Amino acid sequence: MPKVRVGLVGYGTIGKRVVEAVNKQPDMQVVGVVKTKPDFFAQILLSKGFELYAASRESFESMSKAGLEVKGVLEELLTKCDVVVDCTPEGTGAKNKPLYERARVKAIFQGGEKRDVAEASFVAEVNYQEALDKTFVRVVSCNTTGLSRTLGRLNAEFEIKKVRATIIRRGADPVETKRGPINALIPNPPHIPSHHGPDVQTVIHDLPIVTSAVIAPTTLMHLHVVNVEFAQKVTKDGVIDALSRSKRIRFVDSSNGFDSTASIIEFARDLGRARGDVPEVVVWRDSLTVMDNELYYMQAVHQESIVVPENVDAIRAVTGLEREAARSISLTNKTLGLE
Ligand SMILES: NC(=O)c1ccc[n+]([C@@H]2O[C@H](COP(=O)([O-])OP(=O)(O)OC[C@H]3O[C@@H](n4cnc5c(N)ncnc54)[C@H](OP(=O)(O)O)[C@@H]3O)[C@@H](O)[C@H]2O)c1
Repeated sequence: MPKVRVGLVGYGTIGKRVVEAVNKQPDMQVVGVVKTKPDFFAQILLSKGFELYAASRESFESMSKAGLEVKGVLEELLTKCDVVVDCTPEGTGAKNKPLYERARVKAIFQGGEKRDVAEASFVAEVNYQEALDKTFVRVVSCNTTGLSRTLGRLNAEFEIKKVRATIIRRGADPVETKRGPINALIPNPPHIPSHHGPDVQTVIHDLPIVTSAVIAPTTLMHLHVVNVEFAQKVTKDGVIDALSRSKRIRFVDSSNGFDSTASIIEFARDLGRARGDVPEVVVWRDSLTVMDNELYYMQAVHQESIVVPENVDAIRAVTGLEREAARSISLTNKTLGLE
């Protein structure tokens, strides 16, 4: 079977990770990567053997002038692709969509886009089937992916009456020097519910969930404090069993040294993982507390990498490369070392 030809539009925090993950798949081929600026990221992309395309004629000129080998512009890349993964900044994906429509190329968008950019929002372990054969799919944001992974597993095993979650959001990605806060906690948004709950409902459609969110001065990870009320009594062991069925959920224990998000990232660095990435949602086992019908837990989300496996699975779903969720997820996990 010929490999699916994939174009990457955007080579920032998410795009550079997704292109390397796609490149590891036996059934996919990276055709080219689009950027606007002739900076060192473009040089790295070329040094890794990817072909560089420009977002516009103007950026083609500036990249060529800077001595970079540019293969063409976005529209030319589209003629060579079956599917593109759009990893451009919030709102740019929606602006690019008419180009994809004109070229009759399928597209995976990211969580910074509004839900109506796509026919389905996506978290592989929850609703793979909904993305099958679609033209446009949106991989949801890092926070929504983290919440959907654990709540999706719990929802599959137990009857959930309601969920309340507080999200402590990282202020910026490590490379973003112009974002903050530096010395404050910011209710963001200042109203409750935050947009995260409705976003989870684009994936787990009738989940009764209310979320609130605060931005904190850290770049490492988000942290969620989650409270779930069930229709029946549950046990801690039953919850651990349910969550253990996913290789994209990793348990850690504070008694074993995992006393912060910093220690989780240090663990990934010491393991030798590329960029110190942690694509799994990380649940503190010692935070899991059951009181009658209620469960409490804390989990951490590595915003830079959690959506990477979802993008790979979304490519298989929209192109019909693999119709069984479990088979795609298992292949993605294996190739990305999530076992
Ligand atoms: N960062 C996160 O924590 C995170 C987590 C989950 C989801 N997301 C979502 O993922 C998407 C990408 O976010 P990001 O953080 O990866 O962004 P980013 O780091 O700012 O990277 C954006 C990339 O898009 C390129 N680009 C900008 N305008 C373009 C255009 N018109 N055409 C083609 N390429 C263009 C940029 O290239 P140049 O530098 O050359 O301009 C850059 O390579 C957003 O929807 C975001 O909400 C982000």
